[in-house]
Amino acid sequence: MTDPILKISNLTKRFGGNTAVSDINLEIQPQETVAIIGPNGAGKTTFYNMVSGRMTPTEGKIELEGQDITGLPPHKISRMGVSRSFQINNIFPEMTVQENVEVAVTAFHGHSRKLFNFASRNKAVQEEARELLAKLQILELADRRAEVISYGDKRLLEIAVVLATRPHLVLLDEPTAGMTPDETKRTTSLIRQLADTGEYTFLITEHDMDVVFGLADRILVMHRGENLFVGTPDEVKAHPEVRRAYLGEEEEEEASA
Ligand SMILES: Nc1ncnc2c1ncn2[C@@H]1O[C@H](COP(=O)(O)OP(=O)(O)O)[C@@H](O)[C@H]1O
Ligand SMILES: [Mg+2]
Repeated sequence: MTDPILKISNLTKRFGGNTAVSDINLEIQPQETVAIIGPNGAGKTTFYNMVSGRMTPTEGKIELEGQDITGLPPHKISRMGVSRSFQINNIFPEMTVQENVEVAVTAFHGHSRKLFNFASRNKAVQEEARELLAKLQILELADRRAEVISYGDKRLLEIAVVLATRPHLVLLDEPTAGMTPDETKRTTSLIRQLADTGEYTFLITEHDMDVVFGLADRILVMHRGENLFVGTPDEVKAHPEVRRAYLGEEEEEEASA
């Protein structure tokens, strides 16, 4: 066993009397892809907000590569190698696709204070941005203004921006939400390819079970803030309580539709 990249111990977040995340324990190994699933209100986004530093846990501990990051501000956690996407689009609409990634790459190099001169630095930033766009297969959109590209392409651009800070741990909050079935397939296979490079560890929340089962090495099932089950996709599929929670929910949804 290698050391975990992320170790979550007894993580809890309460909002007044409402416990959004309740005593969660989880270890994620480098290069693993872990998905968090659970119905709306299960606590997935709150969990992310604590790992990325946007919310301070009420109780518990978060360790990144052996360092305690509990309660650190977002910019510090981001500099330590954690990058997240948001459920809501987070790009500059007036800039081109490439400029959006260049801004993120520049911000990263600003922190690392590389000593090359302005012109070569600019060129390096451009090249790095283009490499990222190629990785996400949106290089042909490089010169378009971000606001005119399709919703699915915007979300891929958002992933390129997330990867521009060279994160070790990448948090994606519902990466395929709002996508067409074709966009969802394309995005799933792209994330799979990125995971297969071994450069990233992914923590993903997702509603679409096909996406989850297609991507995740392990799945954490949350229900009302609690850990209902952790296991491989096959174990999750076979788990009676998880099946009941999910199948039960689907039946209710169909009945009320
Ligand atoms: N900023 C907040 N203030 C108060 N309650 C919140 C806040 N954020 C989330 N909650 C509550 O925490 C619970 C979990 O929400 P959330 O983490 O958004 O779930 P999910 O992402 O799984 O849908 C919900 O009951 C929600 O109303
Ligand atoms: Mg959410």
